[in-house]
Amino acid sequence: MTRARGLPAPRTAGEMLGMARAFLERKEIAEARLEAELLVAHALETDRLGLFMQLDRPLEGTDVDVARDLLVRRGRREPVAYITGRREFYGRSFEVRPGVLIPRPESELLVDLARERCPRPDGKRAADLGCGSGCLAVTLALELPGLAVSAFDLSDAALDCTRRNAERLGVAIALTGGDGLAAVEAAVAAGGAFDLVLSNPPYVRSEERDDLAPEVRDHEPPEALFAPDSDADYWVRELVARARSLVRPGGAVLVELGADQGPRAARLAADAGLSAALHRDLAGIERVLELSVEDGAARDAG
Ligand SMILES: C[S@@+](CC[C@H](N)C(=O)[O-])C[C@H]1O[C@@H](n2cnc3c(N)ncnc32)[C@H](O)[C@@H]1O
Repeated sequence: MTRARGLPAPRTAGEMLGMARAFLERKEIAEARLEAELLVAHALETDRLGLFMQLDRPLEGTDVDVARDLLVRRGRREPVAYITGRREFYGRSFEVRPGVLIPRPESELLVDLARERCPRPDGKRAADLGCGSGCLAVTLALELPGLAVSAFDLSDAALDCTRRNAERLGVAIALTGGDGLAAVEAAVAAGGAFDLVLSNPPYVRSEERDDLAPEVRDHEPPEALFAPDSDADYWVRELVARARSLVRPGGAVLVELGADQGPRAARLAADAGLSAALHRDLAGIERVLELSVEDGAARDAG
């Protein structure tokens, strides 16, 4: 059996777990315990619960080799989600792969807000601009049965990943490729304005590249991270400019923001005469801009 440097051969799943954790700690991986569990479980073709139920399982030589390869990859800063091909989002397991952004827990706030804004989804329509893995579009379709969800992305890898996740989780999503909001505008021209438009657009400035963790900087797709022209507010500006045409009166646009973007985003909305609210994530960061398109009655009354 081959041995990785610093990894003596374990005899049981439990021993392998302990060694994996020690290896990742030596590599200064922040969540060494959790990631050791995920990687060892993946190597043994089980999940974390399954792993804990078979800690005494004797290992085959190939088990150790497979686990060793996964750990070496993680030690080189490949994201654990790309190694296992999975990431949890809103309590469900999504397929992810290189070329597609790994879903982030803070983006779950977009789903929470969409659920609050759309208590009676039957017959309503939603768009997700920049769908990536499909975590938002697919979760919306699952959480709001009856809502018709359309997902848009520039990247073929993203559209393919969304399609696979939709199929695996058993929902239908309309997928459209193309650059920017033109495809969303075409969908509005064809089928009318949406009730909800969600987006987690790229909002990292290119000057911030060196501050990113190597997992993000060296592995995640640049088109999913970096704002056009290094303008973090580019997509907020685009969505503010088109909110009234993309969303029907009474509907809302929900946009994810970077950590320092909230005040600028609120100002852009106010300058356009739109009602706006900023919503904080669990870390207290102003994470989502909500643009409300008032209905005629409310506007006339106001
Ligand atoms: C930050 S990722 C969000 C992915 C996913 N919605 C999520 O929350 O994990 C942004 C997505 O926007 C897509 N994107 C970037 N620029 C775009 C453009 N000009 N037109 C359409 N999609 C674009 C990227 O391919 C990427 O999938």
